Amino acid sequence: MNYRHAYHAGNFADVFKHALLARMLDYLKRKESGFRYIDTHAGPGRYDLSGGEASRTGEWRDGIGRFAGADLPADVKALLQPYFQALGTPPRDGGPYIYSGSPSLAQKLLRKQDRLTLCELHPDDSRALERSIGRDNRVRLLNEDGYRALKGLTPPTERRGLVLIDPPFESRDEFETMEAALYAAWRKWPTGMFALWYPVKEIRPVAHFITRLKEREIPRMLRLELTVELIRTDGPLAATGLILVNPPFVLEAEARTLLPVFAKLMARGPGAGFAIEQMTGEASI
Ligand SMILES: C[S@@+](CC[C@H](N)C(=O)[O-])C[C@H]1O[C@@H](n2cnc3c(N)ncnc32)[C@H](O)[C@@H]1O
Repeated sequence: MNYRHAYHAGNFADVFKHALLARMLDYLKRKESGFRYIDTHAGPGRYDLSGGEASRTGEWRDGIGRFAGADLPADVKALLQPYFQALGTPPRDGGPYIYSGSPSLAQKLLRKQDRLTLCELHPDDSRALERSIGRDNRVRLLNEDGYRALKGLTPPTERRGLVLIDPPFESRDEFETMEAALYAAWRKWPTGMFALWYPVKEIRPVAHFITRLKEREIPRMLRLELTVELIRTDGPLAATGLILVNPPFVLEAEARTLLPVFAKLMARGPGAGFAIEQMTGEASI
């Protein structure tokens, strides 16, 4: 377990993942009844972008850093409102600040009737997460393997909610593990919303992952991808994706508004773009 998210906090992949996560949480809040947010790989929660790790890579500068003072179209601004409400507006001079990861964003966006279950296996990150979250009786922290914990956490008592599966991709079989975890959790909770984050380091393993997921015949799966430059196996991460199960009906249209702007604003070179694919349709009756 060498992966430290602090090196990557606020990069283009984080902006993509967190902005869409905020959209889905915002949608869940439209009903009065409480829901559950489950983060299987929560990370430490908050990141000081001026700190050692983040400033060593400077990845955030081509991610959230590009939004400082950006002139965004009104519809994009409206869609990003929950994300920036939770994050705080980046300083106009583009300087570093404290960036919120998925558990902190969710903590800020959820209401008193909602609950969060956050899993983080690394002892240091787990302690950091505890400090980031503070005292909050809506939150349950588990210093456990998120994949294993997920089995006992689904379906949650609320029967409504979202699971984020956002592993570090350190092990070669991460795609297979993630796919199996999704399938097992979906079987137990077919109406749950699931979001699986993945990096596109090489095209082929991602293509296999997508083919295998389609074979699972889970209905209502949507794939979103963002590319910021041509993908080179020896280069830095240039593309990222999310597989969404049971996303809000409006999310595909929202992604069609957001992703072109993300691709333009966070482009690092030729090849920047996005993809939106309805992987499977509605459940057959
Ligand atoms: C990509 S980071 C999470 C980032 C976070 N979700 C966010 O968006 O801010 C992955 C995290 O998973 C943790 N981790 C690795 N293996 C794990 C496991 N089996 N169960 C739970 N956490 C794990 C790592 O320590 C790391 O903090």
